[in-house]
Amino acid sequence: MGKNLLKLSDLSTDEIIAILDRAQMFCAGVDVPVLSDKIACNMFFESSTRTQYSFNVAELRLGMRVVSFNPGSSSMNKNESFYDTVKCFDSFGPDAIVIRHVQNEYYNELLGHINAALLNGGDGTGNHPTQSLLDLLTIKQEFGRFEGLKCVIAGDISHSRVAHTNYEVMRRLGMEVVTAGPEEFLEKSLEQEDFDHAVKTSDIVMMLRVQHERHAEHMKLTKEEYHQAYGLTVEREKTMKDKAIIMHPAPVNRDVELADCLMECPRARIFKQMQNGVFVRMAALERAVK
Ligand code: CP
Repeated sequence: MGKNLLKLSDLSTDEIIAILDRAQMFCAGVDVPVLSDKIACNMFFESSTRTQYSFNVAELRLGMRVVSFNPGSSSMNKNESFYDTVKCFDSFGPDAIVIRHVQNEYYNELLGHINAALLNGGDGTGNHPTQSLLDLLTIKQEFGRFEGLKCVIAGDISHSRVAHTNYEVMRRLGMEVVTAGPEEFLEKSLEQEDFDHAVKTSDIVMMLRVQHERHAEHMKLTKEEYHQAYGLTVEREKTMKDKAIIMHPAPVNRDVELADCLMECPRARIFKQMQNGVFVRMAALERAVK
């Protein structure tokens, strides 16, 4: 059986660094294996552009054969369960299955019951391991290190699997990580800092999307009010350190958490993050099936 990738807290620091090193080799076009005897199934039960299709591109770059599952046209419409649907795909004999699902730790009911390596494309508000790996690769390319860097993660922290995954792994790698945003979006267990102070003192300003789809109630602030109070405005960007960068997992609500004109400004690494998503997913897939 291949190696699952469910959450980064399962991996040692050495294992994480090894995946990043391998991803950097793929970024340089070095030593790309041909895995044409391997089959991957992509099963996205929750909407996705970047994760779903960059896994697909990563699989193609590795020469793998790919089956993409569409829940909307499947027998889930006849009340087939999530478990039985994944078991069905596993019965076909793929080497790897990539899953995104709205349920936190959806994978627990599958462990021990499927033969393919399982790669987590995001579970509810829990974990998003390949997003954090691509964030780390982007930071490593920029600064050449993790130790001593400061990152503020700002916005809808409590609903963000990106925030939860990055907070743990970045601190483990020696970074200072603080959170900022509206009181109702923060978590007491995560270190908090005044947003304006954090923007001025951080090497990485990581903005998060307000996840309206995970909110029971509508946000009380208008988009403009949110932008002025908690968004990275043009004025706030001017206070950032000279070499500091802007990151965002995307999709971005332009002019809400991030000023429209900052999306592709010289500090922004948002499309670089998406590019790196292919390389870390190639590394994760190779690790899973070799
Ligand atoms: N960052 C991210 O996970 O984007 P998608 O939801 O489009 O996959």
